[in-house]
Amino acid sequence: MRAVAPVITIDGSSATGKGTISEIIAKQLGWKLLESGALYRLLALAANKHHILSDDATGLATLAEHLEIQFIAQENAPTRIILEKDEVAPAHLFNESTGKAASIIAAIPAVRKALLSRQRAFRVPPGLIAEGRDMGTAIFPDAELKFFLTASLSERAKRRLNQLKERGVHATLSALMVELRERDERDEARAASPLKKAHDAILIDTDHLTIVAVVARILNEIKNKFEV
Ligand code: DC
Repeated sequence: MRAVAPVITIDGSSATGKGTISEIIAKQLGWKLLESGALYRLLALAANKHHILSDDATGLATLAEHLEIQFIAQENAPTRIILEKDEVAPAHLFNESTGKAASIIAAIPAVRKALLSRQRAFRVPPGLIAEGRDMGTAIFPDAELKFFLTASLSERAKRRLNQLKERGVHATLSALMVELRERDERDEARAASPLKKAHDAILIDTDHLTIVAVVARILNEIKNKFEV
């Protein structure tokens, strides 16, 4: 018998489709899903609520360690997210300003350390799909299978624009391109667990691929590896 549940990591920059793709794959396999970006986003919202500034590393790390977060999976509806007893609206959590605030505090090593065991606790049977920036490099370096998704900046901005439109959030393509570039540069440049392909991750350039095609490609690799 395995000592620990298997984990598959899916990392990549913002708006590569990794969130949607990871969700579909986790559902198909019946495995648990860790959207690690949501943790950094929730921490950013909580810090704002408690007036903890982005230069207060100790305050942010303490908040990260004790933050009350609940993910309530639902059959045919998006997962409900509860932060300190309040329901968080997806439009608020996933907008670009929350993403930027998350990216700023995510550069603080003490914050990343405080969220480490919380993320590893998601690794339960029958298995975990872990999605983020450092899943394959720092959180689950021993993952059975690792993927790293890329796409050009203009394609990612287009995808994000459509996603925001669907959520009823107004944005412009040019502003999104600037915001995504800034966020990627920050995520790649930080010293603590930067956005980086793990040496043993499979690289998938999603520029000319649909979500369905990327899912099929990943499921194929999973089938080869696990004989599921
Ligand atoms: O995946 P996302 O857009 O929800 O992530 C928001 C920010 O959180 C991202 O810009 C950087 C940070 N993040 C991180 O540093 N490490 C992760 N594993 C996931 C997200």
